[in-house]
Amino acid sequence: MSNFLETDRLVLRAFTTDDVDHLLALDNDPEVMRFINGGRPTSRRAIETRVLPRLLHDYPCWESRGYWVAQEKITDTFLGWFEFRPLEEHSPDVVELGYRLKRAAWGRGYATEGCRALIRKGFTDLEVERVTANTMTVNARSRRVMEKSGLSFVRNFTGGWPEAIEGSEHGDVEYGLTRTEWEHPGHRMQRDVQSRRQRVGLVPTAPVSRSRSGSAE
Ligand SMILES: CC(C)(COP(=O)(O)OP(=O)(O)OC[C@H]1O[C@@H](n2cnc3c(N)ncnc32)[C@H](O)[C@@H]1OP(=O)(O)O)[C@@H](O)C(=O)NCCC(=O)NCCS
Repeated sequence: MSNFLETDRLVLRAFTTDDVDHLLALDNDPEVMRFINGGRPTSRRAIETRVLPRLLHDYPCWESRGYWVAQEKITDTFLGWFEFRPLEEHSPDVVELGYRLKRAAWGRGYATEGCRALIRKGFTDLEVERVTANTMTVNARSRRVMEKSGLSFVRNFTGGWPEAIEGSEHGDVEYGLTRTEWEHPGHRMQRDVQSRRQRVGLVPTAPVSRSRSGSAE
């Protein structure tokens, strides 16, 4: 299968069953999993039977995957993965953005580089109308990536997770970017003002709840 996307430094390709060891290492770093499952270990069996099948799933509207291995272009080193997944199986309108990189790759701008390229591809080639992303309120690094990728704060919400993890008492945040905002950044600035008003409580936010992006759980 050919690469889904290339950036200056990254190659995004489809997962294969040979990626089990990569995923096992990634999901067993407690720092990587801190805001996903509190840093609990994941067994090889769980990777093989639960995690990998989800990452290998094809979305009918694209006849393609929704999760992509990120490799360093020069060395082919596995860095982690990006999620760019239609929320509805048969419609590319709304796509969820997420990411999980190994710790050695953090702080080099890889997440932002991959997200920006995915967003561009979504709006130019894949008929996406809106990109959405969410994370724990306290996951500041992830929120920073969302902002640097052009998404704006939409609302706070409570994900309703079965198990509490450290920081989950602060709830979750949703960020978003529409095609119009991406094409006309002026619209986005107006929405950023609205977002700031919501954050300081001047305007109410709508109550909804959904899964945490990038959880792949
Ligand atoms: C979130 C993650 C993908 C970020 O990857 P990354 O390649 O380091 O991201 P980037 O380098 O593109 O950007 C990181 C930004 O966060 C900032 N940052 C780092 N630590 C931070 C912190 N504790 N608080 C606030 N911002 C922080 C960096 O300074 C950088 O912003 P800057 O360029 O303005 O300086 C990576 O940390 C990760 O995989 N984490 C574990 C999995 C996870 O939590 N995924 C999200 C689940 S929703």
